[in-house]
Formats: sequence, structure tokens, C-alpha cells
Amino acid sequence: MRSDANILVTGGAGFIGANFIRYVLALPGFKGRVINLDKLTYAGNLNNLDGLGSRHVFVKGDICDYRKVLGLLRRYKIACVVNFAAESHVDRSIHGPAEFVRSNINGTFSLLEAARAAWAGRKDVRFHHVSTDEVYGSLGKTGKFKETTPYDPRSPYSASKASSDHLVMAYHHTYGLPVTISNCSNNYGPYHFPEKLIPLVILNALEGKPLPVYGDGMQVRDWLYVVDHCAAIWRVMNKGRTGQTYNVGGNSEMANIDVVKGICAALEKFQPSCCNALLKGKKYAELITYVKDRPGHDRRYAIDFSKIRRELGWKPSVTFKEGLESTVVWYLGNSAWVRDVKTGAYRGWLKKNYSR
Ligand code: NAD
Ligand code: TYD
Repeated sequence: MRSDANILVTGGAGFIGANFIRYVLALPGFKGRVINLDKLTYAGNLNNLDGLGSRHVFVKGDICDYRKVLGLLRRYKIACVVNFAAESHVDRSIHGPAEFVRSNINGTFSLLEAARAAWAGRKDVRFHHVSTDEVYGSLGKTGKFKETTPYDPRSPYSASKASSDHLVMAYHHTYGLPVTISNCSNNYGPYHFPEKLIPLVILNALEGKPLPVYGDGMQVRDWLYVVDHCAAIWRVMNKGRTGQTYNVGGNSEMANIDVVKGICAALEKFQPSCCNALLKGKKYAELITYVKDRPGHDRRYAIDFSKIRRELGWKPSVTFKEGLESTVVWYLGNSAWVRDVKTGAYRGWLKKNYSR
């Protein structure tokens, strides 16, 4: 991709998309613009994009809107699409799968169709699809997901992502669309919406609320600091071979209960419970509460990321302890962002400015 090329990022008002736009605009070698198409669902938050300059262009819209996407690809002469837009929370997919099928499957289909129409036969373009390790299903005590591991999704969320991955590869094989896919493990870091484990536990703990641990808390996830994920995506979309999938992971397998204990320890370090009146004399760890398990809860994920390391020289740069501490510090230092999310004020801002 040329250094002055324009990129279309979808879902850029969400957690990873917003971190990615910040990452890209700060790269000294990139001079192009980032067009950010986001529907602003409950997970889209324009506060995540505060302070970005004129090289960031926000467009409110749905990836299912083929005409809108085609218009953007043509108007801005887009050279690369990076598709983050999706419904992303497993628990929500269990309670209401329809929106996951619509945005994650139909939305990706509409993007692919628009890219095929706008780019007809071009090879100097790229469609990069951001996906998850959850498409591979659940592991036993040993083993890691490789790019060759058969897909075996278990939740409506992972099934919808698996389906979108297949569509992306099908467009490569059938129509020659230059695509890449990255399948990444669990991310954490700044701007993470507090329905996911790490931000939920940080914010509940600070308010002296229970810290819910599903089942026995021994489910294992591999955690990656979000900025490392952004660096991996940038590398794959620029240097990855078309028609290829790259697994991305943090080399940080942790049982959920240990993640929650790690958050409590980081909070004790940076905002000791004895100084927090809402704790009423308790330690953060005393708030840990085992609750009913998630239906179909995958037991263990682990990622073999040797392909991206070998081919593209990427590896995680931040340890889990470093990343977790800086995440805790970020939440402690960004009380206005937290307040707007907790009160829903970020949605009010949205209504006022996009009243149609
Ligand atoms: P998120 O829920 O924080 O953000 C999703 C964004 O997409 C929101 O801004 C939302 O408004 C937007 N969106 C949803 N439907 C849309 C639509 N139809 N049209 C336009 N915009 C729409 O999600 P996230 O955690 O940032 O995840 C981003 C992507 O990365 C997803 O595709 C997810 O599957 C993938 N992923 C996430 C993780 C993780 O740990 N969070 C790990 C691996 C892969
Ligand atoms: P989550 O952050 O929802 O990500 P994902 O389901 O995509 O992995 O959950 C991470 C792990 O934490 C998962 O095993 C479910 C568990 N979990 C809890 O134990 N308690 C909670 O309140 C949440 C939200 C998740």
C-alpha cells in the first residue's frame, strides 16, 4: 500500500477499531486518511475518537448498506478496507443472535460485494478482515490453534465470525479479491467497553460491586494488549500474503480467576482498597463472586502465532502484567470517559448530533 493511500476502517468507534485508528495515524510512514464507517451501536463511542485530526473522517453508517460503502470506496479512492465492524459480545449473542447474523455475516457480505464492484480485478488493493480465535472452538488441556485447525465455532458470535471468514476467503478464491484475515485472541486495553471481563471487573471493583466469575473460573483465554493487535493487523494488511490467514496471540494463557485476581492486585497497587470508601473496609479480592456459568462456555483457547512471527516478524511486545497495569491506570485516569459510558451519556451525545 502506498504511504498516502486512504484506508476504510469499519467499526472504528469500537474498542479495537478506535485503538487501530490511533495507531495508524501516529505512524510516521503513513500519510493517508482513515475513513471510519461505524453504525454507532451501543458499542460505538465517539469519545473513543477524541482528539484525532483531519486525517480521520467519521461517517455514520451501516456496513450492510452496499450503496453507501461503494460510494465511500469510490469517493475516497480507498486502497484498503479493514473490517472491524461486528457485534462482538458472546453473552449478547446468546440472548439475541439475529443482530450477529445481520452485521457479522450480511455486513461482511455487503462489504465484499462493494469491494468487488469498486476494485474489479485490481491487485494493488487489500481487504483485511479482523476475526477471532473463537472460530476454532474449544481446546482441551493441551494444544494450540493453528491456521490449519478446522473451524468448530460454538456460540452464535463465533459461528457468525466463522461464516464471515469463509465468505472472505471465498471472494479470494472465486473472484480473486486480494484478502487477508487475522484471527486474534482476547484483547484488552484502553477504550474497552465494560461488558467484557477486564473492564467490567476494573469498574465494578472501584465501585465495591461483586466481581462475577462464571462457573469455576478455570476457563483459559490467551490475552493480548490491544496495541500489539493493531501492530499485527498493520503488518498483515501491508506485508501478508493475499489469500492467507494469520493467527495472532499474546502468549499469555490465563485462567479467568487469575485474571480477576491480577486486576485486584493491580488496583491494590494503584488505588489501594483502604483508600476507597466504597469498599467499606474490604479488599478488592473479597468482591470476587462465582456466578452461574455461560451456556456452552468454551473451556480453553490458545494460539500458535508462529506463522506471523516467521513470515512477518511480529510478536507481542507487552507482557500481561505490564498491559494489565497500564490498562488499570488508564481506567483510573479517564474518569470522564468512564462516567459517560456508565451513565449512557455517550449515547445522548450521539442522539443530539445524529438526530435523523
Ligand atoms: P466492539 O463491539 O467494541 O466494536 C464494534 C464496533 O462496530 C462498534 O463501534 C459498533 O458501532 C460497530 N458496528 C457494529 N455493527 C455495525 C454495522 N452493522 N455497521 C457499522 N458498524 C457496526 O468490538 P471490538 O472488541 O472492537 O472488536 C472489533 C472486531 O475485532 C470484531 O470484528 C471482533 O470480532 C474482532 N475481535 C475482537 C476481539 C476482542 O477481544 N475484542 C478479539 C479478536 C477479534
Ligand atoms: P469476555 O470478556 O466476554 O470475552 P470472550 O467471551 O469473547 O472470551 O469473557 C472472557 C472470559 O471471561 C470468558 O471465559 C467469560 C468470562 N467472564 C466471566 O467469568 N465473568 C464475566 O462477567 C464476563 C463478562 C466474562
